[in-house]
Amino acid sequence: MTNRFTLDHRLPQDHLATTLRADVLHGLSAAPRTLPSKWFYDAHGSELFERITRLPEYYPTRAEQEILARRAPEIATLTGARTLVELGSGSSRKTRLLLDALTAAGTLRRYAPLDVSDCALIEAGEALCRDYPDLRVAATVTDFEQELAVGDGPGPRLLAFLGSTIGNLDPAERRSFYAALRQALGPDDALLLGVDLVKDAGTLVRAYDDGQGVTAAFNKNVLTVLNRELDADFDHAAFDHVAVWNGAEERIEMHLRSRSAQTVKIPAVDLVLHLGAGESLRTEISGKFRREALTAELATGGLTVGHWWTDRDARFALLLAVPTR
Ligand code: AVJ
Repeated sequence: MTNRFTLDHRLPQDHLATTLRADVLHGLSAAPRTLPSKWFYDAHGSELFERITRLPEYYPTRAEQEILARRAPEIATLTGARTLVELGSGSSRKTRLLLDALTAAGTLRRYAPLDVSDCALIEAGEALCRDYPDLRVAATVTDFEQELAVGDGPGPRLLAFLGSTIGNLDPAERRSFYAALRQALGPDDALLLGVDLVKDAGTLVRAYDDGQGVTAAFNKNVLTVLNRELDADFDHAAFDHVAVWNGAEERIEMHLRSRSAQTVKIPAVDLVLHLGAGESLRTEISGKFRREALTAELATGGLTVGHWWTDRDARFALLLAVPTR
């Protein structure tokens, strides 16, 4: 490993165990029962998500890639970024389009990926150091919902939050996120945000309920995580994967619906769930956006949208915003 890669662990050793317990205890005993979607992403879940991004029905990844491929040079010129910070970087595949453009523009010095998974950061960091010989990769293991550790890379900094992951936050969580972002960004920094757009319900539901059942397996994987980490006794076969369009909230919701009345034990948090037939656990919200409303909520959060690009079919948008002067 080169000395151009650093890894900063900012989570206490027991952070994941502690937050998982709290999330399960609060989420599953509430009405409606919910689980935060971040618990999908253990090693197997991350693998399943990678497969989802290649499914014919799951258009967001390809649409965002199309925009980035076309606009990355413009983004590089507009921002002149010396540091690229990326939230929830995962495998950093799409990031390469940005790294290439910022390298070609000659401004880029540092790439600072943030993720809860140290494995993803190490794997991606090694490959990037190999392929970008002049780049410093300063990776941080953190949960950006708790702490937005954007680091001290040279400015101007471009903070990328791609993949419409922001859709996993509800409106109140988005407001706190913008506040934290506004704190973290300097006057010369910029935000690059990728968001999936509102469209016909059929297209949206198919993207979250694919013909091969990969998304169903991804959804049910959270039960494997709870069985392993909390000694729970969830039976995959006792639940159906359900994806619904919530038109009032303009979001896709994934649920695991109990096929019959059943009891599930989760010993590590001292919880016994009595689920009725047809009762569901909501495992993910995936908000879909409109230009006007998103621009307005960002403005309220102190961020001015300067550029808005979509793919040719206008399914997905990439926006560039700066702190409001
Ligand atoms: C990466 C969180 C944006 O909500 O579309 C894919 C995750 N869930 N299929 C999304 C996901 C089901 C994805 N995000």
